[in-house]
Amino acid sequence: MTRAASPDNIAVTVQFIPLMGSVEDGIVESFRHGGGLPYSAFPRFHEVMAEDSGQTVVAALTDHILPLVPGLTERLKEGIDVLDVGCGSGRALNLLARRFPNSSFVGYDFSEEAIAHARAEAEGHGTKNVRFEVKDAAALEEEASYDLITTFDAVHDQAKPTKVLSISKI
Ligand SMILES: C[S@@+](CC[C@H](N)C(=O)[O-])C[C@H]1O[C@@H](n2cnc3c(N)ncnc32)[C@H](O)[C@@H]1O
Repeated sequence: MTRAASPDNIAVTVQFIPLMGSVEDGIVESFRHGGGLPYSAFPRFHEVMAEDSGQTVVAALTDHILPLVPGLTERLKEGIDVLDVGCGSGRALNLLARRFPNSSFVGYDFSEEAIAHARAEAEGHGTKNVRFEVKDAAALEEEASYDLITTFDAVHDQAKPTKVLSISKI
């Protein structure tokens, strides 16, 4: 089965089935005794997630998601400061950085592996207006101020969602 990029290609999503199967015992253990499994326990998680995001978030970003906020595309063209929380492998933010060279973009993710992918993509394209940092969004103290804070497919992952959602008030 090919995993050619297309929002309708289920071959990307079904990769999660064997991936979940490989951590089943640990998940059952966690239900029985409490706790949880770190992302690092899920083989190829960030790789598969980046492909999945390419079909969902990235494919819809400029034509469908940005226009949901009136005037946002114009402000991005003019130049604003953007933070993406739980940026994963950074595909969405890297695309935005290339598309809107007058704006500045910062991506946070607490996975070193994901941030390494994100930085490599930015470097590969020579994109200068984006940087990526390994940071836990639930443990932020003082933050620079941003005109726009995005989070794609990452709030439901949170152990402390209220803490992360309060970032806009830091
Ligand atoms: C479902 S993935 C989505 C990644 C990316 N936004 C995308 O669309 O491909 C969720 C991401 O959130 C990150 N994450 C979860 N909790 C986090 C936290 N407290 N601080 C920083 N990153 C976090 C994970 O490492 C993972 O990369």
